[in-house]
Amino acid sequence: MTRDLTQLEILTELEPVAEENLNRHLSITKDWHPHDYVPWDEGRNFAAMGGIDWDPEQSQLNEVAKAAMITNLLTEDNLPSYHRIISEAFDNGGAWRTWVGRWTAEENRHGIVMRDYLVVTRGVDPVALENARMVHMTNGVHSPENWGGFLLNIAYVTFQELATRVSHRNTGKVCNDPIADRMLQRIAADENLHMIFYRNMCGAGLDLVPDQAIEAIAIILENFVMPGYGMPNFRRNGALMAKHGIYDLRQHLEEVVQPCLKIWDIFERTDFSPRGEQARDRLGAYLEKLEQDVAKFEEQRDRLLAREAARGLLPVS
Ligand SMILES: [Fe+2]
Ligand SMILES: [Fe+2]
Repeated sequence: MTRDLTQLEILTELEPVAEENLNRHLSITKDWHPHDYVPWDEGRNFAAMGGIDWDPEQSQLNEVAKAAMITNLLTEDNLPSYHRIISEAFDNGGAWRTWVGRWTAEENRHGIVMRDYLVVTRGVDPVALENARMVHMTNGVHSPENWGGFLLNIAYVTFQELATRVSHRNTGKVCNDPIADRMLQRIAADENLHMIFYRNMCGAGLDLVPDQAIEAIAIILENFVMPGYGMPNFRRNGALMAKHGIYDLRQHLEEVVQPCLKIWDIFERTDFSPRGEQARDRLGAYLEKLEQDVAKFEEQRDRLLAREAARGLLPVS
């Protein structure tokens, strides 16, 4: 019986594929500048500079858009933690190092442009936003202790990038502001390219060490939480976002999980040993359960929305 490859061996083995995908990324990515996406002429001073401080009346965003913007921005703000995690997992010099640096620089744009937009348009309370950022970044992000290494992390970031793409894209739609929509479409396009890089690398991992990779994918999906987990009001805002279709269980299943599993050919592959097949069976059982949960969630949501409509509450978006 052959032994498992170590995470470092896998990383080293896949470096040429990383290089190929890095070059592919650099050749199709478009440079953009955060300042081009912010309506600066809407800005004015706050009280400390002789203007007036934020007041809820000034915001043009509905409650769902506010919750989603805050959740997505605080997630982007935690970039130093994510940088630490991925540089520990992937940085092996060469193309991997270039990718980690490039990815970090691109992600930083997302936080910059969203904060500029929200402060200039007075979309959310800048003091509450700053306080939440301090709490969230001070806590940082910590993956479970035994979640080091290449395979688990490459599987996680594949799903996470696609999840943030969906979330940014749908947030743009509920803002009722073409400027916000354009900005969030721009960010979502970046997240999509990030996802493709990670998805290709995870696919290469599956080809190299099928059993080890499918085990990692199964563990990640069974335990998946959105990257903003743990931030102030995460539950409340997450529930509001799910209720209004910004990121809900069906989107998680149909727009995030299934497309990746399909591209990796998970249920058609013939290169697993009994060990890999066992992990695949577990994954199959997980997907069935998720489908049931989707149906249950949607029933509950429909009942809740109907009750709210009966009480005369208008849908938010
Ligand atoms: Fe991002
Ligand atoms: Fe990203």
